[in-house]
Order: sequence, then structure tokens, then C-alpha cells
Amino acid sequence: MRRIDQATVQKILDAADIVEVVSDFVHLKRRGTSYLGLCPFHNERTPSFSVSKTKGICKCFSCGKGGSAVNFIMELEQMSYYDALKYLAKKYHIEIEEHEMSAEEREAANKRESLLAVNDFALNFFERTLQESNEGRTIGLGYFRERGINEAMQKRFHLGFSPEGRTTLRDEAVSKGFKEEFLIETGLCYRTDRGTVHDRFRGRVIFPVFTVSGKVVAFGGRTLRKDKDVAKYVNSPESVIYRKSYELYGLYQAKQAIVRKDKCILVEGYMDVISMHQSGVENVVASSGTSLTEGQIRLIHRFTENVTVIYDSDPAGIKASLRGIDMLLAEGLNVKVLLLPDGDDPDSFAQNHSSSEVEEYLAANETDFIAFKTRILLEGSGNDPIERSRVIQSVVRSISMIPDDITRTVYIGECGRSLGIDENVLRLQVAKYTAERREKEARDAERARNRVAAGLPAEPAQDDVVLQPSAPVRQAEPAAKPMNKFLIPYERDLVRYVVKYGMMYLCDCQIDEAGNTRPMSVIEYVDRELNNDNIVLSDDAFRTVFEASLRVASDAWMDDWTRFSAELEVKRAEMLRQGAERIRTSAADLSNLDALEQKMSEDVAEEIAAMADDFCQRYISKHLVSAIDDVVRTVSTDLVAHKHQLSKIHTKYAKIATERERLAELVPHAVYNLKEALVECDIRNVIENIREACKVNDIKRVEQLMLKQAELNEIKKELARYLGERVLSPKR
Ligand code: CTP
Ligand code: MN
Repeated sequence: MRRIDQATVQKILDAADIVEVVSDFVHLKRRGTSYLGLCPFHNERTPSFSVSKTKGICKCFSCGKGGSAVNFIMELEQMSYYDALKYLAKKYHIEIEEHEMSAEEREAANKRESLLAVNDFALNFFERTLQESNEGRTIGLGYFRERGINEAMQKRFHLGFSPEGRTTLRDEAVSKGFKEEFLIETGLCYRTDRGTVHDRFRGRVIFPVFTVSGKVVAFGGRTLRKDKDVAKYVNSPESVIYRKSYELYGLYQAKQAIVRKDKCILVEGYMDVISMHQSGVENVVASSGTSLTEGQIRLIHRFTENVTVIYDSDPAGIKASLRGIDMLLAEGLNVKVLLLPDGDDPDSFAQNHSSSEVEEYLAANETDFIAFKTRILLEGSGNDPIERSRVIQSVVRSISMIPDDITRTVYIGECGRSLGIDENVLRLQVAKYTAERREKEARDAERARNRVAAGLPAEPAQDDVVLQPSAPVRQAEPAAKPMNKFLIPYERDLVRYVVKYGMMYLCDCQIDEAGNTRPMSVIEYVDRELNNDNIVLSDDAFRTVFEASLRVASDAWMDDWTRFSAELEVKRAEMLRQGAERIRTSAADLSNLDALEQKMSEDVAEEIAAMADDFCQRYISKHLVSAIDDVVRTVSTDLVAHKHQLSKIHTKYAKIATERERLAELVPHAVYNLKEALVECDIRNVIENIREACKVNDIKRVEQLMLKQAELNEIKKELARYLGERVLSPKR
């Protein structure tokens, strides 16, 4: 097994800031104390993916997916725990010692990883060939120079060159231990009719295609020959790791600029993207020649709502792509269009103009898509009334795609004015198209249901953009034990307190006859109470999480707490020093310096205490939500994410005490609620047994059982009394 030592794991987990990690994939906007964005795990148009910096977790409150930074990466990128850690380590520049994979390990690694590894090897191979080999330098680099692509862009896009030799890549890969089978599956090589295996891209310059997180899933190879009988581009075929319609060329390099500028520019080809980047416009991606797909559009929407499509001024090409734009509208994106001067494409335009000229041109010439479409189509229709009506219908259809009511209404108004048509007529037409689409959707859904009913495989869903099939994360439902079910809410409640507040101070407990006390934490209290009554949690998942919490509390806590307290002391000293300085330099007169200093040091003490409290509060959950154990990780994440509703009675009064402030009352209640539930369980059992005993007329046993029942009822009453009072007085 490949392993990372525990200290490094902790270092990685500590470094990983959930907001930063998620922001690489989702455009987040601040909403109060948390952040909100479009969920990357399912298709949605209004954001329900929430990220809590303080809790260190993210969660979609629509589809429920999410978790800690590690879990987020695991789910989104379909990585193992180990690989997700590696990903985070790389992001935060944390060194991991890792030994070279042995042949067996390579074999054991699953196919997906193998294919990615092969591609990674090939990426390196092509890049090295371009930069270092004679052949690569003269032919490949010569070509890029001729096309004006500088070295920085070559590096940034990892451009490469595939040698002319038929099997150069294959031979080197095989000698490094990569299997031919994987070379073929990634499409790097293919098997000839004669059974030999040849390189697919030979003699071509290479454009690697990266996923949004930077994994190489495909390559495009451009021929350097001018003759028409060879394909200009050869591209990797689809594979387990590459689904063409879900990738966008350049997104990996562009995503930060897209977020920064809150806009994505869409072009056609590899060269367009690279030349634009080189001219300083970095928020550019390409659909690589094909028309846009829904998957690609959703990918864009994760980063921005604003899209500008650049066209070279070829009317046929424009008309052909208008339909693709309707999909952008339907996805709720704001679409603008930009027409380049005659004869230019983004590549040539960027190459022939300075970067400020490019920026200026973009800013000055973007037009709203609906207006653009209207104009383009009307130009082509002349004065033919039938053509004209067709144009209007097509524009109205586009407008009907816009999901947002207000935006749609605005467009209807504008369109009415520019076409000279009554708005109400347009509105009716829009409604008609919308209704038609709804009907079609309903029919499709019906068909899908019928397929399922008939036992046919479902048609591939359109919205599994990032979620390829994976091992189930959640544990299967435990076999139904009826009494179990009854206890679950109580166990859940108790374990939730342990996970969320385990290391926090709960109360003082007596330690000797003399009445000396020491502070006791939530987890210690719960553990002691359960042990006293020999209670073992019945639910497997909750028990696992509880035990994991105990381990965290006993293993690492003391060291970590000691270290943290020492740091706090340093911080306290520094804060006091700064405070004193502030007072000295700003106090109006010297008379009340003492009072000011006194107040300041109290404030500092309070702030330090709050930091200590926060550290304690987060300690257990921080470990559990990133734990390697799937059950521990997912169940504890659910517990932490759960929003606890304080009862109405309490919230009616002016000050709403938070759960955290009321632990001394809530935690014992949770313990005693569980105990009461257990007694209730026993009582039900006894009653059942009495019934059985009656059936067989075993009077003696019935008597025994009834005594037992009376006893249990007594206990239950006592617990109820106990629960009725305030169990512990919170003192501090
Ligand atoms: N494309 C392709 N296969 C082809 C032609 C085009 O996959 N036979 C894709 C490539 O992704 C290409 C894009 O469509 O980048 C746009 O095509 P084109 O404009 O012909 O290519 P450019 O990238 O502009 O390449 P160049 O400027 O070198 O001609
Ligand atoms: Mn071109």
C-alpha cells in the first residue's frame, strides 16, 4: 500500500482551506458567514451549494453531496482518499515522500488511474521531444515559432511533438512498464491490421487536453503537412477518462481568469485559445471544433454566468452555431457575441494586434446575443415577409429559452421595439414555445419511466458531468433491526454533540472526597455516562463515529492542545503589547491610562478564550470529516452540516442562546433521552415476552416478567423526573 505518514496527512488537512479548494471548481459568492455557488454534483441553475469556512465543509442542500476538502475532491474527481490528499498536497506545495510504484502496484492500480498515468507519461514524452530532441526542435518548435507561439505559452499549454518514428512513444512507454493495452485504450497508439501497435500522433505537434483540475485526458495532434489528404487534426478517442462533450480546451489554464473577470470567452480552436492567452486575454476556452454541448455549458456555468462567443465573420459558420447559443441561454447564462473583422479568426487577430488593442476591440464590439441574432438573420432575409416571420420566430424561440423571468421580459420588450411588433404578440409566442418544451420534457420523462418499468437500462443521463460511476461512499443500510430503528434518532443526537462539541468544556466533575473538581469535556462526560450503564450504541455507523471520536480525543489531543496553548500564549503577549502601544500613542490624556489598560487586557483575555473555545469546538469534527474511513467521514460530515433547530419556546425570548452556550443542559438531556429510549425498548421486549409466556400458560415466567416490567417502569419514571429538571447547572 502507498502511504503518507500521519504528520504529513495532518499538515495537508490543516492547510486545505475549504473555500479555496472548492473555488477551483465552483464560482463562490459570499452569503453572510458562508459561501454559495452552483452545485458541481448535479445540474442546477440557482445555487444551493454552500461552503462553510469555519466548519471546513461544503454541502449541497439540494442533492446532499459535499464534505470536507478531501471528501469534496474525492467525490468530484472520483479519486481515492490517497489521491485526494496528493492533490491537496500539490495545491498547497506540501512535500510528500512517495516511493516509485512497483510493477505489481501499477498492475493493482485501477484502470482509470492507469490510463491517466499513461497520458501523463505521454504528456511528458511529447513535451520533452518538442523541447529537447533534434527532430522536435527543428520541426515542432520551428512550426510553433512560425505560428508566433512563444516559449511561455508552449510551457503553459504543455505543447509537444510526437516523433515521426512509428513506434517511438510505444517503445519508450513499454520499456517504462506501461501496458500496451492502456496505450491503445487512451488512443495514444492503435493496433494495425497486422497486429502491430503504432503511435497515433506521429509527426504531429501536440495539444494536450486537461480537465478542469489539470489531468491530461486527451491529446490533439496537428499535422504539419500542407497536403489536403491528411486530416489536419487527429484527436484522442473517447475513453474511460475522456468524454469529449464534457471537456473544454483551455479551461484549466483559463479558469482563474474566468472567475476574476466573471466572464468566459468562447472560441473554436486550440490555436485561438493559445494566441489569445499570449496576447493577455486569458479567460478563453474552446469547444474544439464541435458544437457546444450541455455538459460543456454547465462546466462554464460553474465559473461564471457571462459568456462571450467570438465568431470569425463567416456567415455560414455563424448561422450554424446559433443553435448552440440557445443552449447557453437555456442554461441561464448571459450571452454576448463578438464579430471579428473580415478575414480574421481569434488566432490571427490576437497575433496581429497588441494586447491592449485586443482588449479594446473586445470591450467595444461585444453585442448582446439576441440583438445580434436578430440582425444577422434579418440581413439574410431581405424583404421577404415569409423569411422575416421565420426570423422573428427563431429569435422568439431563443428568448423563450431564458429561464429568468425578468431578463426574458426585458428581451421581449427590446425585441418588440426593434422588430416593430406588439409585445403581447411576442409574449404569447414565447409562452407557446415554453409550453411546447415542457410537454416534450414530460414526454421524455414518461419514456424514461417506461424504460425503467420495462426493465430496460436507463438512457445515459445528461447531467452526470463530473460524476462518473464510483464505489458507493455511504455504507449500505444496516440490516433492519426493529428496535434499532427506534433508537437511531437518540443515538444520532448524542453522537452529533460529541462530533460537534466533543472537546469543549461541559462541566466540572468531582475528583475526590475533599470536593476538588476538574473540568470535564463533552466527550468525556458522554463516554463516562455510557460506560456507567454499559451502553453500546446499536447503530453501526454512529458507534464507529463515536469510537473514532474517542480515538481522536485520546491520541492526538494532548499534544495538539499543548502546542496550541503555547501558541496562544505567544499571541496573547503580542496582543497585550500591541494594545499597550495603541493606548500609549492614542490616549488623549494620561489620567485614565490604567483603566484603559485594564479594559484592554480584559478584551484580550476574552478574545484568547474565544480562540481556545473555537479550537476545542472544531477539534473532533475537523479530524473526522477528513478521516480515511468512508463511514466516519461521511456520517460525521452529515452530523456537522445538520442545522439544529432550537425550539420555538426558547427563541421567543429576546436572547437566543446558541446550542454551544447550552451544552451543559443539552448534552445530559441527550444522554438521558437515549437511556430512556433504551428502557422503553426493554419494556417493549418484556411485554412481548409476557405475551409469549401467556400463550404457553407459563404463569411463573409471567410473574417474573411483570416484576421486571414494574422495575423498568420505575427506572423510566426516575429518568423522566431527571429529564424534567435541569441536569447540570452551567458554571464556569
Ligand atoms: N478540429 C478537429 N479536427 C479537424 C479540424 C478541426 O478536431 N480536422 C478542431 C480542433 O480542435 C481545432 C478546431 O476544430 O482547433 C478549429 O478548427 P480550425 O479552425 O481548422 O483549426 P485551428 O485551431 O484554427 O488550427 P490552425 O489555425 O492551425 O489551422
Ligand atoms: Mn486557425
